Amino acid sequence: MNPALTKIGAQMSNLTGVRAIMKDIIETLKAGAGQEFINLSAGNPLILPEVEQLWRDCTAELLASSEYGEVVCRYGSSQGYAPLIEAIAHDFNNRYGLNLSDRNILITPGSQSLYFYAANAFGGYTSNGDIKQIVLPLSPDYTGYGGVCLEPEALIAYKPTLDIDVEAHRFKYRPDFSQLSITESTGCVIFSRPCNPTGNVLTQDEVKKIAALAAPHDIPVLIDSAYAPPFPALNFTEMTPVFGGNILHCMSLSKAGLPGERIGIAIGDESMIQALECFQTNLCIHPSRYGQAIAASAINSGALAQIAEAVIRPFYQKKFSVLENTLDAAMPEDLPWFLHRGEGAIFAWLWLQDLPITDWEFYQELKQVGVIVVPGSSFFPGLREQWQHKHQCLRISLTGSDEEIAIAMQRLAQVAAQVYQPAVVNA
Ligand SMILES: Cc1ncc(COP(=O)(O)O)c(C=O)c1O
Repeated sequence: MNPALTKIGAQMSNLTGVRAIMKDIIETLKAGAGQEFINLSAGNPLILPEVEQLWRDCTAELLASSEYGEVVCRYGSSQGYAPLIEAIAHDFNNRYGLNLSDRNILITPGSQSLYFYAANAFGGYTSNGDIKQIVLPLSPDYTGYGGVCLEPEALIAYKPTLDIDVEAHRFKYRPDFSQLSITESTGCVIFSRPCNPTGNVLTQDEVKKIAALAAPHDIPVLIDSAYAPPFPALNFTEMTPVFGGNILHCMSLSKAGLPGERIGIAIGDESMIQALECFQTNLCIHPSRYGQAIAASAINSGALAQIAEAVIRPFYQKKFSVLENTLDAAMPEDLPWFLHRGEGAIFAWLWLQDLPITDWEFYQELKQVGVIVVPGSSFFPGLREQWQHKHQCLRISLTGSDEEIAIAMQRLAQVAAQVYQPAVVNA
């Protein structure tokens, strides 16, 4: 069989960005059967015993309740399972002093689907034939945004400015407001905070400035809060979510231990919620209700927010410390290496300035010493301009054991020393 694919069919069945690399990684692991790899590529969270126990307990409670049949044996509303929507409204109103009603909340099957709905409901061609852009104000950002646009030409990302601390070998990206263009031809704006892949947390002022640029044109600003407080609370720096006006606060329970259940949550103005809810009805009727029911219970009892702060955050924060301490000790002092400030998420982002080979070649060199990371160039969806920096970065997942992370960073330092050596000699 060789079914003919439409333009959209061909585009959606393409392996883009990090998915292409994941295929190479799976093949490497298969081919190297017997060879020990330290695999720091995954975005898949680790199973933490306290978190697993929470979901077991909520499941036991659901199984014993009279609500069980209603949850799994019947269709429900497209907007989501009412007790989960109420639990979120109640929790967020108390926690952040908001005034949310059930009309401000939509539950989706994972947050990836939410970005798909929004990218195509607000971005792409209008009925007049004009194109509305999906703006990523700070590149690099989540590679998954690259696959969600049915009109890929609508996606446009902006280069950041770099705050560099040469002595400390650290840096931080900042949005470049002198370049960022949000106009009537913008359909929506999306960014992750904390950011996958970099761990960057945009400041409150930066977020408000972006939202203010979009507000006069009624442009939705989606703040992808997959790693933000109150759950999973994977912020290692102080941050408060920003709500209201044109902001669509988008959450995911995947990093709070439920990636298999696919739960995304959007909070915002009723007009945005309604448009996305209709999209969802057409696509899948509604997300699965089992995960929503156990999530309602974990949010209502306060256990989810508590475990996020007491277990999930310190677990990954410690891994980041292991990684940065090892790099500080092992990297040659005279190399221009810069680690992005670890402000959150479950990754570290390393920039090797003036790297004599590409990020892809460096990734291959690391495989030779049994270490797998992700080459950074996959994390610049929508950034079309040439920029050497795109080929000088690596994303390192914090999902190994402390020992694995330390060994992997020592090996990385050795590979870096070798790779830069000829360049230093030739200089
Ligand atoms: C920044 C970011 N947004 C969205 C997603 C998608 O998450 P979900 O499992 O909710 O679809 C991920 C997954 O890794 C992510 O890192």
